[in-house]
Amino acid sequence: MTLQLDAPVPAPGDDSDPPSTAGIPAARLIDVWFPCREVDKAVGTARGSGLSEKALFTWFASRPIAQARAAVLCSLLPDTADNRADVRAAVGGGDPLAFNRLRNRITAQYAPKPPVVLDVFSGRGIIPLEAARAGATAVGTDLSPVATLGGRLLADLPMRDWSAEPPLPYAPPNPSDESQEDAPAQARRRPRRSTSAQSTLDHMEAKKAESRLLADVRAVLAEVGRRVAAKVADLYPGNPERNGETPWAYLWAVTIPCDSCGRRFPLVGSMVLRHPYRRTSDDGQSLRLCFDSDSWSSEVQPGPPDQEPVFAAPAGRRGKSARCPFPGCGRVHSLDVVKAKGFAGQYEDALLAVAETDHETNQKFFRAPRPDETAAAYRAVPDLLPAVLGLTAVPDELIPAGNRDNVRASGYGYLSYRSLFNPRQATLLAATVRTITEVYEELAGIVSQDYAGALVAYAASNVMRQIKTSTRGARNRPHGNLSGTEQNRVTVDHIFSSQSVIKHQFDYLEVGPGAGPGTWVSLSASLANALRKVLEENQPGARPARFRRESAITLPFRDGTVDTLVTDPPYYDMIAYSDSSDLFHVWFKRALRTAVPDLFDSSLDGADGLQDKTDEIIVKGRGAKGAGDHRSDKARYERLLAQSFDEARRVLKADGHLTVIFGHADPEAWKRLLSALATAEFVVSSSWPSRTETAVTGVATISVTVSIGARVAPPRRPIGLAAQVDAEVVTRVKQLCRGWDRDGLALGDQLMASYGAALQIVGRYSKVLTPDGKETTLDHYMGLSRRAVRDAVALRLDEQPLETFDPHTRLAIFWHVVHGRQDVPRGEARFFAQSDGLRLEDLRGPILAERKAGYRLRHDAPGDIGPASSAYEVVRGMAAAWPSGTDTVAACLAASQRSVTDAHVWALVDWLTTKLPPSDPVAVALAAIKRNHGSVQAVAAQTAPPEPAVLPSLFEEKP
Ligand SMILES: C[S@@+](CC[C@H](N)C(=O)[O-])C[C@H]1O[C@@H](n2cnc3c(N)ncnc32)[C@H](O)[C@@H]1O
Repeated sequence: MTLQLDAPVPAPGDDSDPPSTAGIPAARLIDVWFPCREVDKAVGTARGSGLSEKALFTWFASRPIAQARAAVLCSLLPDTADNRADVRAAVGGGDPLAFNRLRNRITAQYAPKPPVVLDVFSGRGIIPLEAARAGATAVGTDLSPVATLGGRLLADLPMRDWSAEPPLPYAPPNPSDESQEDAPAQARRRPRRSTSAQSTLDHMEAKKAESRLLADVRAVLAEVGRRVAAKVADLYPGNPERNGETPWAYLWAVTIPCDSCGRRFPLVGSMVLRHPYRRTSDDGQSLRLCFDSDSWSSEVQPGPPDQEPVFAAPAGRRGKSARCPFPGCGRVHSLDVVKAKGFAGQYEDALLAVAETDHETNQKFFRAPRPDETAAAYRAVPDLLPAVLGLTAVPDELIPAGNRDNVRASGYGYLSYRSLFNPRQATLLAATVRTITEVYEELAGIVSQDYAGALVAYAASNVMRQIKTSTRGARNRPHGNLSGTEQNRVTVDHIFSSQSVIKHQFDYLEVGPGAGPGTWVSLSASLANALRKVLEENQPGARPARFRRESAITLPFRDGTVDTLVTDPPYYDMIAYSDSSDLFHVWFKRALRTAVPDLFDSSLDGADGLQDKTDEIIVKGRGAKGAGDHRSDKARYERLLAQSFDEARRVLKADGHLTVIFGHADPEAWKRLLSALATAEFVVSSSWPSRTETAVTGVATISVTVSIGARVAPPRRPIGLAAQVDAEVVTRVKQLCRGWDRDGLALGDQLMASYGAALQIVGRYSKVLTPDGKETTLDHYMGLSRRAVRDAVALRLDEQPLETFDPHTRLAIFWHVVHGRQDVPRGEARFFAQSDGLRLEDLRGPILAERKAGYRLRHDAPGDIGPASSAYEVVRGMAAAWPSGTDTVAACLAASQRSVTDAHVWALVDWLTTKLPPSDPVAVALAAIKRNHGSVQAVAAQTAPPEPAVLPSLFEEKP
């Protein structure tokens, strides 16, 4: 075993330490201050996002490094002017001098021992990394062995001193291999200088940063690459016309037999191979299918496609189907039929084209495969490969049921992890994994087992990065467009959508063992580059962070030993961490079972051979989609989270702080998190929103995460009276809104940030009682804080305060401000209604339209108009009636039986005109009505209100 922690770790700290309260003021920075602006700014920069640290390893929902740094520093340090200034500088601009001063202060503050910082949901270890860099004893635990390995590669192994290890017997990579890193990736990293000056500088930079670990990781990666290329050479013949060079990649498509004519055809979803680019007079390339009576073949042609893709959505319709392309057939196969064919075992892979690199332009070009290439492409038989470390060479573990939304191919009949790859892809990976085990055996006889394990763990991480652009989920990615106005490089896409969903494609790119994006050599170069950056940022004397695979609900640490616990717990239903990483786990088991047994020994697996998910704290699937999975229960999420906070309280020192980072658009998720904190007897001391997500991790549903400071609830808190506590909450939230507004925080995000602020007040009391002696609920305070945000906006429409509008209109206006025309998830929509004392059921129809993704505010014609209609419906009715003329608009107004000059109706006409895009048909109609308001009012005054039933015919209802 090599990567286990050096000694048993009964406690992350040492409880013989003198009590750390000595000399530490009670309040830490996080209680009173947080560098929100600096975090916001820094997460958009290379340094603050932590993108280079994250490039080492693939994991989901990780914190931007600037936020992790801010959370760690503010949770450790007391509030002084110097600390504030230095934290600002260290977080905002990564100022090394400021960071160093802070480290020294932390060391002095907690002397004689450094503080212990624990992250119990450590993922790939960004928070422990920052804690270690800040001079703390950093410890990370995570349930997933895959994530735990990520933490070690990032924040443990690079901080160890390996200088006494004997030299390795492997040659460093060829300098030409180093340049095999995806050229655009290099270009993105640094501005180009003149070639010779650049190479001198590159060399100097590389030399300066070269550490023992970096040099040896590069050598091991190169050795693995060389051996694998030799092992699979007969499967990937070189091109005799290009000095035997191995092509970059191969384009495949899955074929199915036609239900009508019985002939097989390929499910090609895009005919574009490379877009044109006018600037370089490049016409681009496309695919063409040719048909003989019973068979088809593919050709590569210059220029844009002249055929429609076979697997596509028919024009103007949603949802893809497959049309048999054989002349005279044309039978359409619905998506369900296509999927059924997969389950019936009717899919076959067909090679369509080969991609190579033009070394003059560094551009990719496609060509038809040679006959020997086609023969070789089908030659791989993974079943014949000998077992590796007692396991099948390619992973035959089954994808658990219930993962069709998460591992998409399992919804098409690909039921095992090996089946996600075509046989040759699987064989290439199996050869790589076997080579890693061989290299480990060799190295363990030369260097220490720890070091051998460390080196092959980086190699295994490169396999993971290779898988990220493998499987049938990796498509050819032609950049640019059909009109040739944009740069047109060609790369291979990665397999994840929405951060963690493993995609499936019927036409996909297989990257070979040669050079180019996604190949071993290219990934080796970018891994080495990421490691170099991590090493460069390391602080002299920083202790390696330690990582263990543990469940947060049963921590293996002694009571009262942790100074600060900083963590971001799983985000409710957003990511199924272990389901999305089992694809990596099954290969890690094969590569690292001997080298890293504390993470990858089979005895640690669940019964299905995958990661053990018994304790995983997520909400799996929504509604029926999670049926049958023990993780689908929302109450279980809250219960286990509360247990993990209970454990946090146990291991924290008496004056310890808990900092929780969280974000979710669904108030239900917030309710569960905040309830769990309260159940575990934590009180919120502060909450600080940061705009961290859209720019960095691509989580579509949130743009803000909140750093929540919490402390163990003090004993004997007073009982609060609802009237007084409610007033305090409202005042506090409104006061915060002013600052949030100044900082440009979107209203939706202010709503989210307001919950923590409310709990800050509520947490001062052991309970809060209403006049009739009932205890107030969390729901009450979340609703109250949302209303306070709404009121703080002090919306006035043409001098009409928002609160004077009827309830449905009030909700519609605020909804429009917060969410515009977007779909809003059901949970948020329900809470939106509840916060205003309304029922979602009553809003569905008149105000909101139900859609697949949730609810959307209606801007179209209402069903009918009568005296009971809200002002919002009347105005929508008037807008819809406009194309039929002034009289119809007037009839609509008359039907509402309001005064023809009703202030609310006309204020809303005016307001919506300015809030909708000027070209929006509703805005155009309302602008016209506004211009003609005199005539509309005059006609309406003369018009007897029509029967409501007549009204729908006044305007055409739009879908
Ligand atoms: C939001 S992520 C943490 C990301 C991390 N901060 C990073 O920067 O990579 C939540 C983590 O909780 C882990 N997790 C889920 N259930 C757990 C449990 N019972 N105990 C420990 N970790 C768990 C998941 O594996 C996941 O890595």
